[in-house]
Amino acid sequence: MPGFKGLFVPGPTNMPFQIRQALDVALEDHRAPDYPQFILPLLADVKKVFQSKNGHVIIFPGSGTGGWESAVANTMSPGDRVLAAVFGQFSHLWVDLCQRFGLDVDAVQTDWGKGVPLDQYRARLAADKQHAIKAVLVTHNETATGVTSDVAGVRRILDDLKHPAMLFVDGVSSIASIDFRFDEWGVDVAVAGSQKGFMMPTGLAIVCVSEKAIKAGETAKLPRCFYDYKDMLRSNAQGYFPYTPAATLLRGLRASVDLLFSEGLPNVFARHRRLAGAVRAAVDAWGLRNCAQGPEWYSDTVTAVMVPEGFNANDVVTTAYHRYNLSLGGGLSKVAGKVFRIGHLGWLNEIMVLQALGGVELAMHDVGIKFEPGVGVGAAVRHLSKASEAMRIAAE
Ligand SMILES: Cc1ncc(COP(=O)(O)O)c(C=O)c1O
Repeated sequence: MPGFKGLFVPGPTNMPFQIRQALDVALEDHRAPDYPQFILPLLADVKKVFQSKNGHVIIFPGSGTGGWESAVANTMSPGDRVLAAVFGQFSHLWVDLCQRFGLDVDAVQTDWGKGVPLDQYRARLAADKQHAIKAVLVTHNETATGVTSDVAGVRRILDDLKHPAMLFVDGVSSIASIDFRFDEWGVDVAVAGSQKGFMMPTGLAIVCVSEKAIKAGETAKLPRCFYDYKDMLRSNAQGYFPYTPAATLLRGLRASVDLLFSEGLPNVFARHRRLAGAVRAAVDAWGLRNCAQGPEWYSDTVTAVMVPEGFNANDVVTTAYHRYNLSLGGGLSKVAGKVFRIGHLGWLNEIMVLQALGGVELAMHDVGIKFEPGVGVGAAVRHLSKASEAMRIAAE
């Protein structure tokens, strides 16, 4: 099929030309004498994306799952207790990983469509007088349901209760797209991957870790090797790696960070908010429901759209793909068949979002979902046009 393939899954995301070009380099010597001149500023700049001065950024070959594993393996001992909430496939998988590592997970089962239940976190932490809970897990943006949780709220609870548990955040589908503040929120390990907000190919697990998390590693007994923070930090301090880094991807990451900074992080976040608002306006206009149960949970990077009773959301996804060259996300696990997901993160603008919404309308129309063709796109146009006017006035 001629024309661009529409990539609107919530990661991998569209890759900017600048990053593609940065990746088109000859392979290089990662032990070259001048390699630190490339690596040290890169690590310092990636840290800024986490909005951290005090943390340490570590970049592993891997993906988000590897980042989860690193958080656990570097800080925990078998049988350690962690508090988590499950409200979608990714928060579920992180808990599953913790259990496979032999942790004792208190997993609060929550509606798929809501996020971290602050009241239940508070109650469990308040009841934990012995401070048995060693870490509290937060999936900042649950990509399966399009739900964003309140990380700062969890920090406040820990502080109010003077509970010393570490705070681990999965920011795989939020960091570099949605405001994320490592230092301000007192996060101990934050996990990101290269293929979402960083607009890169998959292949890097990018984490930011606090001094407290590093210190926890001194007594933590879980085995670790590939994902060892200490090995990495020791070599990184000299501008090198303990094993062969994904050097080409690091060139891409340099271009990614440059792009994020040239736009400005606050503008990146505002753009995601604006585009997400357009998608939500379209969903409303179609008369459909957002899987996220209320504005306090709305995600600015992905929207999971519930199809009406009697329809299978996978039909929308396969029709969009086969007839219109448009990739949408399907529903995962509990919401399989019930939702399709529109990813709206990364290298994206108004026109691209309208393209996706137009494609969704085509596919929904073809499978027989009842709505007035054009109403979703029209609502998105009105939303974007209003936002653009507000930006023009603000710039005057
Ligand atoms: C929120 C979240 N966490 C973790 C993961 C797992 O990351 P990866 O697939 O890069 O291993 C994903 C993947 O989409 C995700 O969306």
